Amino acid sequence: MANLDSRVTIHMAASLDGFIARKDGRVDWLETSDEFISGDSLDPSYVEAFLKSIDCYVMGSRTYETALNFETKGLGWSYGDKPTFVLTSRNLPRTRDTVEFYSGDLSQFVNERLRPAFGSIWFVGGGVVSADCLRRGLADEIRYSILPVLIGDGIPFFEKLRRDVTLHLAEVKAYKSGIVELRYEVRGNCGESRNFK
Ligand SMILES: NC(=O)c1ccc[n+]([C@@H]2O[C@H](COP(=O)([O-])OP(=O)(O)OC[C@H]3O[C@@H](n4cnc5c(N)ncnc54)[C@H](OP(=O)(O)O)[C@@H]3O)[C@@H](O)[C@H]2O)c1
Repeated sequence: MANLDSRVTIHMAASLDGFIARKDGRVDWLETSDEFISGDSLDPSYVEAFLKSIDCYVMGSRTYETALNFETKGLGWSYGDKPTFVLTSRNLPRTRDTVEFYSGDLSQFVNERLRPAFGSIWFVGGGVVSADCLRRGLADEIRYSILPVLIGDGIPFFEKLRRDVTLHLAEVKAYKSGIVELRYEVRGNCGESRNFK
């Protein structure tokens, strides 16, 4: 049974031209050095309280592999001690108890496993998983952090969405770092499903 109080959020950071990573998966461009004088600053205590409000994370295997790679380089694990569900059909290394693997139908997983157990469910990428989540009508909101950079080519925020999705713009924030954060509520899928080659 789906828990109507639960909320599924998709959050990623992207270049202004809509890419979440270079074609080869690199995210070196995430470090930018812009300054927007009248932008907001991020208060560390606000960030801490906000992260506490997230109950679990969901990600695709390629995003997990990037997270493992970051950890190996000493850059830490971004998901704290929150349960982190990794979608994969492969046998991947499990470096902490909070990580759980799942393979199978995403709608069943979200509605029968995650929604009854968690209030705030965060999908943190990548493009394949985010598109699947939206295509199936599972997401309630999208948080899109736009970085002040163009990278020309790469992995798109939503990989082959195949249909239009209408949104309601709920919040806009601009930060001193030049990052603009957009929060949209998902109104619904519409239009015919399209096929991409
Ligand atoms: N800029 C950002 O905020 C941001 C955020 C996240 C990721 N990224 C970047 O985006 C890239 C990864 O994105 P991506 O679109 O290529 O891949 P992804 O969405 O992270 O992972 C896709 C893979 O997950 C597995 N999977 C998905 N759904 C599944 C299901 N229902 N059951 C079983 N397995 C399932 C499949 O692989 P297998 O079954 O073969 O394992 C699939 O190929 C990385 O470079 C990462 O660094 C950037």
